[in-house]
Amino acid sequence: MNPTIEQFRKRAKTYSSSANWISDRRLIKAHLEACARRPPGHVLELCCGTGMVGRDFRAEGWSVCGIDLTRAMAEEANRYFPCICVAAENIPYLDGSFDVVVLRQAYFLLEDGQKALAEAHRVLKPGGVLVLSQTVPYSAADADWLGRIHRTKQAQLKRFFTEETLALELKRGRFRLARRRRLSVRENITRWLAAAPELSAAKRAEVCGLIDHAPEAYRRLHRVSAKNGEVFEDWNWVVFTARKKKLP
Ligand SMILES: C[S@@+](CC[C@H](N)C(=O)[O-])C[C@H]1O[C@@H](n2cnc3c(N)ncnc32)[C@H](O)[C@@H]1O
Repeated sequence: MNPTIEQFRKRAKTYSSSANWISDRRLIKAHLEACARRPPGHVLELCCGTGMVGRDFRAEGWSVCGIDLTRAMAEEANRYFPCICVAAENIPYLDGSFDVVVLRQAYFLLEDGQKALAEAHRVLKPGGVLVLSQTVPYSAADADWLGRIHRTKQAQLKRFFTEETLALELKRGRFRLARRRRLSVRENITRWLAAAPELSAAKRAEVCGLIDHAPEAYRRLHRVSAKNGEVFEDWNWVVFTARKKKLP
């Protein structure tokens, strides 16, 4: 089986509460605020997982559809809005079907990110927006160490992105960057690792050790701390609002 599907199949039932960022209100709201000037229309959540972002769009009056590669995740999302199990690289919707496409914390997992962006571009209406978000380094000072942590904790990582390399991806995908917003979400690393069934005990210890013994610049930027045997740190999020150009 595809290892990405295998990883998220194991996580599907407990995914929604497996890390703080997944249900963080400020982070979810940032995706809605990225489209605040639009009246509610049609939104497609790509790689939607259990549909945590789409649920809020639905509550605000949007008509929501989702797609996810992992059937067990798509089934969870399908409890809240129609969701189908397909790859983001081959979206089964007609051209110009959506006002907004959302993609949170999955671009780094995609086999062919540019193909998924081309598909997102195709299914958006002219003037529609892609809201793409992901965890990225705070600056050059933590980038190498964070890349090391991500490569250790996520075997399915296809490429490690910074804010700038993500922005370039969007431009290459023919999107115009309208806005970018940054926010920090504090994570309990010990709890997060315990909820990652795909990681062996040795891998969990390795990830925890990399954070606990990170260089000073990393520890300062991520505000690493330990309390009662648990390790905490901030994750830096970027939320891009990227526009599909209107027809001339
Ligand atoms: C880290 S989870 C993020 C889920 C959701 N976007 C969220 O923010 O809670 C990544 C999700 O991407 C899905 N995924 C990975 N590769 C995919 C692909 N090529 N097409 C569609 N979904 C994909 C996985 O199945 C998983 O549910």
